[in-house]
Amino acid sequence: MHDGLIASLYRFLGNLGYHHPLHPTQLHIPVGMVIGAFILGVMGAFRHHRELKHAAWYCMLIALVFTFPTILTGLLDWSQFFAGAMLFPFKMKLILAGVLLCFLLTAYGLGRKTKGEHGAMVAIYTFCLLTILALGYFGGELVYGARSVSTPEDFKAGEAIYAENCGGCHPNGGNVSHPNLPVKNSPKISSQETFLAWIRKPKAPMPAFPPTAISDDQARELYQYITNVLNKS
Ligand code: HEC
Repeated sequence: MHDGLIASLYRFLGNLGYHHPLHPTQLHIPVGMVIGAFILGVMGAFRHHRELKHAAWYCMLIALVFTFPTILTGLLDWSQFFAGAMLFPFKMKLILAGVLLCFLLTAYGLGRKTKGEHGAMVAIYTFCLLTILALGYFGGELVYGARSVSTPEDFKAGEAIYAENCGGCHPNGGNVSHPNLPVKNSPKISSQETFLAWIRKPKAPMPAFPPTAISDDQARELYQYITNVLNKS
């Protein structure tokens, strides 16, 4: 995919007033449908109930169909919000998405003739469910991994902004791709102005954060958190 194309897609959405990632608008469909397939599949097997097995099967089919746009928006968001950085949680999500797709396709292959009455369906639905849980865990790591319970109340807002925008590449104030250029003790945090100038126009591959992504007020909260909490941890 072309990088400029992705950026212009998000710019277009931004002009419409939409500044959020796209992945969260999709991901609940396959997640919910896999959970549905699992619950109905278990009930169907337990009670030898054909209609429940069929209902589980249709849930699985919807999950399979919506896994494709969900992976696509995941890749788009990753390119836009994480500048395509190969972070560990992202690698795991990529692998797990492939695993989920294999399980769903296996379920499709086995259940196609009987609409999900095959004896192995429950086992496959269980594997799908476990994969979904792991995907959710690493998604949480990616977005919230940098948050801590011990941060003082005054800096919680800044911490949340950090976790959402910076923590993926700068966990604990470090730097995953350029370990010699951490946030902690960086000359770029010597003053509020220097800091603001940096996040608005950083050096690639760090992505820029325009005021639509982080407002001046939010940047102040972020700066307070970095200098008062992160830099001292
Ligand atoms: C996609 C990964 C990524 C994200 C997200 C990211 N950064 Fe960076 N950051 C980098 C990279 C790579 C560098 C090194 C750039 C260079 O070569 O100078 C860097 C450098 C920095 C530096 C300067 C280090 C130095 O001393 O030169 C600071 C400060 C910094 N980032 C803060 C932030 C803040 C604050 C955020 C969130 C608003 C953020 N970064 C989001 C990747 C990222």
